Amino acid sequence: MAATAPVIDMRAVSRTYGEGPPALAGVTLSVAPGEALAVLGPSGSGKSTLLNLIAGLDRPSEGTVTVDGLRVDQLDEAGSARYRRTKVGMVFQFFNLLDDLTVTDNVLLPAQLAGMPRAAARARAAGLLRDLRIDRHADAYPGRLSGGERQRVAVARALMNRPALLLADEPTGALDTASGADVRHLLAELNASGQTIVLVTHDLSLAASCATRTVELVDGRVVRNTRSAESATAVGR
Ligand SMILES: Nc1ncnc2c1ncn2[C@@H]1O[C@H](COP(=O)(O)OP(=O)(O)O)[C@@H](O)[C@H]1O
Ligand SMILES: [Mg+2]
Repeated sequence: MAATAPVIDMRAVSRTYGEGPPALAGVTLSVAPGEALAVLGPSGSGKSTLLNLIAGLDRPSEGTVTVDGLRVDQLDEAGSARYRRTKVGMVFQFFNLLDDLTVTDNVLLPAQLAGMPRAAARARAAGLLRDLRIDRHADAYPGRLSGGERQRVAVARALMNRPALLLADEPTGALDTASGADVRHLLAELNASGQTIVLVTHDLSLAASCATRTVELVDGRVVRNTRSAESATAVGR
C-alpha cells in the first residue's frame, strides 16, 4: 500500500523579491495529514512568505508547492481563489473579521462564497459556534467581543468549509495571556481531533503546546526540523 499522501509537499522552493536576498531559499518541506507544524524564526526569516506560498497568495520564483494533490503554484487567479475557499482555512493575528456583520454572518461567509445550501450552512455555523463555546455571542457584532472571543470566531470561520489545512499567522500575537492560552488549547484540541495545521508564531508556548513538529527558519532556510518530543527540549532552553 502506498504511504499516505502529504497534505503539503513543497520542493526546492525559493522566493526572491527584486534585487534583494531571497525571502525563501530552497525550502523542501512535507506535512502529513494530522500534523500540527509550527514555523518559528526571527522577524524577516521568511515565515509569512512560506505561509503565503502555501495559501496560494504568492508564487514561488522556483520550485513547486502541492497541497492536497493540487499544484498551488500553477493555479490562475480564479483557481487560486477557489482553492482558498475550499481547501484552506486562514486565521490571522488581528482576526480580520467584518465588523458590520454579526458573528454568525462572519462564520457563514465562506459557505456562501462556496455556494453551500443555506440551511446546511446555518446548521454547520451553529454547531461550530457551539463547539468553540462562542454560541452565546452568535448574534453579537465582533466589536463587542474580547480578543480571545474574536479569535474563536475567526477559527470557526476558517473551519466552515472543512478545510484540509488550517493556516494561522501569529494567532496569539494580539492576545493577552489568558486569551492566548485559550486559543492554544483550541488549536491543540482541533489537531487532536485530526485537523492538519500550519502555524507561524513567535510564541514558544504555542509551539510547545500544540505543535507535533517544529521548523525553524533563518534567512529563508530551514535550519531545524524537530518532532515534538525533541522540540520540547529545544524550546525549553
Ligand atoms: N512584498 C515584498 N517585497 C519585498 N520584500 C519582501 C516582501 N515580502 C517580504 N519581503 C522580504 O522577505 C523577507 C522575509 O519576509 P517575511 O516572510 O515577511 O518574514 P517573517 O514573516 O519571518 O517576518 C524579509 O526580508 C522581507 O523584507
Ligand atoms: Mg511575518
